Amino acid sequence: MELIRQRRDGTIMTTDSIDDLFVEGLQELYYAEQQLVDALETLAEQTDDETASQAFSEHRDETQEQVDRLEQVFEQIGEEARTREEQVVKALIDEHEQFAQENDGDVLDRYNMGIGQKTEHYEIAAYGNLASLAQKTGRDDAAEMLAETLREEEEALEEVTEASEQFDEEQVAD
Ligand SMILES: [Fe+2]
Repeated sequence: MELIRQRRDGTIMTTDSIDDLFVEGLQELYYAEQQLVDALETLAEQTDDETASQAFSEHRDETQEQVDRLEQVFEQIGEEARTREEQVVKALIDEHEQFAQENDGDVLDRYNMGIGQKTEHYEIAAYGNLASLAQKTGRDDAAEMLAETLREEEEALEEVTEASEQFDEEQVAD
């Protein structure tokens, strides 16, 4: 099945460019996930709140598996596993570094939970898009692997969100 889309400016978007979109998206996630393995390690060590720290630590290990899974996706679609610099997660990591230099204690804990949630939301959007594109381009096995990671990201978001809500309730009770 060939996908042809007419853009508003009249140019044609063909299957080739959809393929590029898919592969470039994979490369960006491959970059982002590798950055996140280290970032989650830092978050786990730096966050005093036990629930949140535990969630970061578990998701760090899971993220390492997600890196491996992306390599399997590349293999599945016959593409070399390559990274492509991804600006959103990179900016979040830079912002975190800056904040952590200037803050500590409860404020840093709560900030870490927030930045963790932002990152998960980004990943959920990215994996959701790629799983859909994989299916659209007939790559069912790749779509399934991406959907598996998507579910893990959704669970990770839920855990860190619960930790932050619990944290806020405790702060109010103090
Ligand atoms: Fe991830």
